[in-house]
Amino acid sequence: MTDKIKTWSENISAAAAIAARGPNGIKLKKDFGVGLERYDTDGHDPANIDYRNTPLTFGIYMWSNLRKYFLPKSKILDLGCGNGRFSLFFSEKVEAAKIYAIDGFRELEPSYKQDNIIFSKTIFQDFKEKNFDIIFMHGVFYTLENYGFKESFKKIISDLKPGGFVIIIDNKFNNHIHEPTDTLIPGHYNLTELCNIANTELDNTEVEIIEEYVQPTYQLKTVVIKKKENK
Ligand SMILES: C[S@@+](CC[C@H](N)C(=O)[O-])C[C@H]1O[C@@H](n2cnc3c(N)ncnc32)[C@H](O)[C@@H]1O
Repeated sequence: MTDKIKTWSENISAAAAIAARGPNGIKLKKDFGVGLERYDTDGHDPANIDYRNTPLTFGIYMWSNLRKYFLPKSKILDLGCGNGRFSLFFSEKVEAAKIYAIDGFRELEPSYKQDNIIFSKTIFQDFKEKNFDIIFMHGVFYTLENYGFKESFKKIISDLKPGGFVIIIDNKFNNHIHEPTDTLIPGHYNLTELCNIANTELDNTEVEIIEEYVQPTYQLKTVVIKKKENK
């Protein structure tokens, strides 16, 4: 990559060049499959894929910090998994993990199937499996407004084991800290408020935001929420 990248298209072509080559020149698996497109469009157009937010860039820039949450034998929910590209990432990186990949509208990419990935085409609000160590959402939480942020968030927290973590990665502008969720434009929310609501309305539950930062790729923000062991 050249050291002076000025425009968006230069950024994309530089990222695509790295992607094609792979880190250290290794030929990569199909990391840039469909799945990043908006859930309500017919998005198999490669122009919709943001090369900054893929399992490849996640692996390079984010994994070294987040891997501490993914203990061996973790029971992981990849909520709104799209084609399952992050489920595949976790199945390769987390020892003896059991990964539940669910999506209400998309199918698991057949070449991503693994013994430890259990896919179901299910709306989260109808999904019955519980007791997850980690609930992971990459570009998904902002879409849950369709089902109500407050009710969806309370179900996410209820489906988590005590001691478990929710990892929400969304556009950095979606999470607000001052305004209440109900007053915000569609797709925007206030996770601090949603945590307070969960703490007030769910029995024996205490959740807390433990990490919050804009990713080094500048597009997205990661928020990690912990459900405490014992209230
Ligand atoms: C922008 S895509 C992200 C896909 C995937 N996480 C990734 O990064 O490749 C959002 C996904 O969430 C799914 N989705 C949205 N609301 C959902 C819900 N309530 N239950 C299950 N899946 C949902 C959509 O079908 C879509 O595939």
